[in-house]
Amino acid sequence: MVNEIKKDFPILENRNITYLDSGATTQKPQQVINAVEEFYKKFNANPHRGAYTLSMEATEYYENTRTKIAKFINAKHREEIIFSKNATESLNLIAYSYGMDKLKKDDEVVISIMEHHSNLVPWQKVTKQTGSKLNYMYMNEKFEISDEEIENKITDKTKIVGITHVSNVLGTINNVKKIIKYAHKKGAVVVVDASQSIPHMKIDVQDLDADFLVFSGHKMLAPLGIGVLYGKKEILNNMTPFLMGGDMIEYVYEQDTTFAPLPNKFEAGTQNVEGVIGLGSAIDYIESIGYDKIQEIENEVISYARQELSKLDYLTLYLTPNEQNHSGVISFNINGVHPHDVASILDAEGVCVRSGNHCAQPLLRFIGIDSTCRASFYFYNTKEDVDKLVAALNKSYEMFKKYIEK
Ligand code: ALA
Repeated sequence: MVNEIKKDFPILENRNITYLDSGATTQKPQQVINAVEEFYKKFNANPHRGAYTLSMEATEYYENTRTKIAKFINAKHREEIIFSKNATESLNLIAYSYGMDKLKKDDEVVISIMEHHSNLVPWQKVTKQTGSKLNYMYMNEKFEISDEEIENKITDKTKIVGITHVSNVLGTINNVKKIIKYAHKKGAVVVVDASQSIPHMKIDVQDLDADFLVFSGHKMLAPLGIGVLYGKKEILNNMTPFLMGGDMIEYVYEQDTTFAPLPNKFEAGTQNVEGVIGLGSAIDYIESIGYDKIQEIENEVISYARQELSKLDYLTLYLTPNEQNHSGVISFNINGVHPHDVASILDAEGVCVRSGNHCAQPLLRFIGIDSTCRASFYFYNTKEDVDKLVAALNKSYEMFKKYIEK
């Protein structure tokens, strides 16, 4: 059965493709495209800059979307939502504005080996510069971080813990609630990278008790170039701004400046307003379907993909055996064939997968490989998409098998 939802996504109708790269960016429904177009046709002006009606309407639209996002992730205060370019920029903001100020020599930052470079490289930079230490929570043979590992690595010296909610390579769902609870016991703040989780599951920042949580809009149906930083108000209030410039100030003198209150303090310069509007529309779309339905569709498709891909004896899969701890992505290799070659053959069959190190080199090195192919799914994917992937993989294997050393 062809997924009715697919019809909302013009690109999936216009191009003859099997799109399995939603972990990199999702396709956009007509509703989001319409919202962006409508903004430019009816509301475009620079928010916070004008006293005329159009600018005030643009401001209202922009600020109402902030409120919508706060409700969506159950933030206590709307000013806890800061707009950024993407999750990477949000993470850099935290590393520079919080990490650089608060970390002292011999303090520790703990992150997991599953982190995307965006929640890893900034911490290398700040720990080096502040004389603090960067430690890792490693995963077990099930591609999961054990409770024992959490308790061994997060200590009284730990001041910041960075953890991805869902691994962009393995799809492992980390128990962030448990990590946060343990880290708080030790006095550390926790930064959650929800980029690969929020497209698929309900996020409640108060229930998680996350200190910071970041995500990118483009991985959840919104336009490219819009990201969110959530931070607890009391923490954000005590942080210095990351970027300086227009709209983040209160008074500017020749030598000194006082800063605007939240959230403006962290939103210097003209913002990606169309991105914000698109993100608001993406949230409406997700809510109109509902996370229960999204999970029902995805569980069925991913479970089928796990089952069908496991039957291919020439393939190595990199995933947790615990299906309930797995979301979104399946990484694999045809044994003996470079993933870029496999991805090219899949592309010739119209199947789009990502290949390479997925911005997670330390993770792949830990596993003992340097790259994989990765199929990543969203609720517009169907079992037919999985069948097309399997057929294209069989074709690739047939082409390459004579070159594969036994
Ligand atoms: N971080 C994105 C991915 O995992 C781009 O593909």
